[in-house]
Formats: sequence, C-alpha cells, structure tokens
Amino acid sequence: MRILLVGGGGREHALAWKLRQSAQCDELFAAPGNGGIESVAECLPIGATEIAALVQFARQEAVDLIVCGPESPLIAGLANVCQEWGIPCFGPLASGARLEGSKAFAKSLMAEAGVPTAAFAVFEDPAAAGDYLRQHFASQRCVVKADGEAMGKGVFVCETLTDALDAVEFLMVQQGQGEAGKRIVIEDRLHGPEVSFMGFTDGERFLPLPPSRDYKRAFEGDRGPNTGGMGCVAPVSDATPELLEQALERCTLPILRALDSQGTRYRGALYTGLLVHDSLPHTLEYNCRFGDPETQALMPLMQGDLVELTAACATESLEGMSLEPPRQSAVCVVLASGGYPGDYRRGLPIEGLERAQQEPGVLIFHAGTKRMNGSFVTAGGRVLNVVGLGSSIAEARERAYRAVEQIHFEGMHYRADIGAGL
Ligand code: GLY
Repeated sequence: MRILLVGGGGREHALAWKLRQSAQCDELFAAPGNGGIESVAECLPIGATEIAALVQFARQEAVDLIVCGPESPLIAGLANVCQEWGIPCFGPLASGARLEGSKAFAKSLMAEAGVPTAAFAVFEDPAAAGDYLRQHFASQRCVVKADGEAMGKGVFVCETLTDALDAVEFLMVQQGQGEAGKRIVIEDRLHGPEVSFMGFTDGERFLPLPPSRDYKRAFEGDRGPNTGGMGCVAPVSDATPELLEQALERCTLPILRALDSQGTRYRGALYTGLLVHDSLPHTLEYNCRFGDPETQALMPLMQGDLVELTAACATESLEGMSLEPPRQSAVCVVLASGGYPGDYRRGLPIEGLERAQQEPGVLIFHAGTKRMNGSFVTAGGRVLNVVGLGSSIAEARERAYRAVEQIHFEGMHYRADIGAGL
C-alpha cells in the first residue's frame, strides 16, 4: 500500500515507525514529517492543514490510505475531502471531529447519550458566565473551557472564583484564544486519577489500546504550567480490566452510537480522556486522534499491524480483528527546549543521540527536530521523546532515563519523575 501520514510531531514519528513495520507498507510519505520521520518516510513540503495540497498529492501519487495524526486537519474536513475523492482516510469526518473541535457539542452529546461527565453550562455572554460563576462557584472549584480548538491552551482549572472570572475575562473579553473562546463551557471539577483510553474504531467496533497516563505539567511533582505533555507511562495498573470495560460501555461506545444516530459514522482513532471519580469512569473530554505523547509509548507496545488496523477503520471492516494485550511496559520522557511551554530558541545542535539510541530497550521518536548538515538541531518546544521498554514500569523507566542522560542540547529540560513510584 502507498500511505500518506499527515503530521510532523512525536506522535507521527511513532506512527510512521509502526506503519513501516507492516509488510503491507510499500511506500510511506509524511506531510510535513520531521527530522526523525525522514529516516522512515519520504517527507513532503506540505503542511498538515493544507487539505487541498494533501489530497492533490494523494490523487497524483495513487495513495491508498491517508493516516491523519493531529486533530486540526480533521476538524477542518480532511476526511470529508478524502471521501469525495474515494481515498480511504484514518480519521473522522468533520462532524465526528467536532467531538474535539467543540467542547459544547461534546458535552451536549454526552448528556444526550447518558455518558457520565461533570455537570456543565455553556455561555456566549461574559456577563451571564460571571453571574453563573458567582452563583454556583463562589466557594467551589470549577473548570472553564474554551469551546473551540485552542491547542491545549483553552482549559483553566480554577481554584477560586477570582481565577474563574479571570479565565472568562481572558477567553471572552480579551479573546486570548481568538474565536475558540467566544463560547465557553463551565464545568464542576471532578477529582480522581486520569486515564487516557484510546483505540481504533470503524464506527461500530472499538479495539482499545492499553490504558496510559500522561504528565501535563512542565515541572516535577505536577507543578508549573500545562504543556502538550512531558511524558507518559503505559499500561497503568490502576486502570483495571473492570474499569476499562465500564469506560468502554459507558463512555466510548455510547458516544459512537450517538454520533451514528446523527448520521455520522466515526472512523479512526478515538481518545476518551477519563477521570475516575467515586470509582466510576467519567469522560473529561474526547479527542478525535491519538494522544501525544501517549502514542509514543503505545506504538512500541502494540502487537498488531498498524496498516491493517488503520485501513480497516477507514473502510469499516474492523470485524474479526483483535489486539493482544501488551507484553511489556513503556515510559516516555519528553526532552523539551529551554523556556517551553513559553518562548524558546530553535536551531540548537543536539548531541548524543546515536549513543542514546544504542541503549538496550530504548526507542527515540523525534518531535521538534530538523536535519542540518547531517546532524540534528532543535526545531520545536518538545524536541525528543525517549521511550524505555521493559518488563515493568520500573525497568522501562530506568532504561529511558539512562538514554536521556546521553543526550544534550542547550537549555534542554525534562521531568525526572515520569513513572516514579509506579
Ligand atoms: N496527551 C494529551 C493529548 O494528546 O491530548
């Protein structure tokens, strides 16, 4: 098969690596790819959201399957255009990607489908949002979310009424996240461990990947600003088979059925962000793609053939397919640029990569790198994902950090507590 992978981060490097292992992968293109993806795919000078150019390339080059990594192209309708041209696409139509593209839509669909989730209200007027907060959250914590796509920067977990009013002011009045914050969702705050529950779906069947957990804060001990993810572990042992069965039956399948009853058959990756509150899984959010950095930990654990699975989702033929449980554990440590998630420098030489790659049980997926004169330089906030694999989280963690110690670039920072105590 000739496959076009859309995206250029660490998640896409892990997907490219796994697609390449399939006997069915004859040709792999990546748009735009990155420094690391170049070693397994032909990288194209086409951005991930240049839908017309992506589809034109796919048609010209007789691409058999498009696999989309990030959410933005899907929210913007990549799968719809693929459908018009008869190109199978791993990734939902825009009407399905709306689960991630509009928090208000996702919450109302959850309410309709009876999915356990935090109580919520939707606002388009900042004064009404302020009144509601003063009435309901004067002495209680809440979460304020931008409705639209805000690249992980639209969620405010508020400790006080002042925090919540500031979030409303930032999103709705100052329009700090542009259009995304014109409408907001205010939610009760639930408490409990979070689990990333992802899998493959053809709209009817769902094949789950092992449960994973990401580390969103920049600094150790879950301090500092939110990031795109500083690390990840999989599988997580507190997500028991019983809990995952409940998550499937109460959170994941009902939302697929609710979409189907609206005329949208969802094909692709579905990520249910779970929070276990009072021992019951609740949906925090849905994402219309795999998680980053969860994918970097999960692809090396996955026993199946990624080409077969993604093609089966795209063509609604998952029936009869299954995924074996993982035989190992994985710990992924993200190496970030100095200053990330704020401003950071690019173009800094990366040293020690080859040495690190030789460590046993280690894989390195590039997120923000570029090849320059035969060497790698930094080209993003999150630069590298160092994945350790082992018979336990402890062993995987030891391997990951041994490799991390070999790598250096100016300003590099990472969390030293990924997988600690598990
Ligand atoms: N790791 C969280 C996400 O991908 O949204």
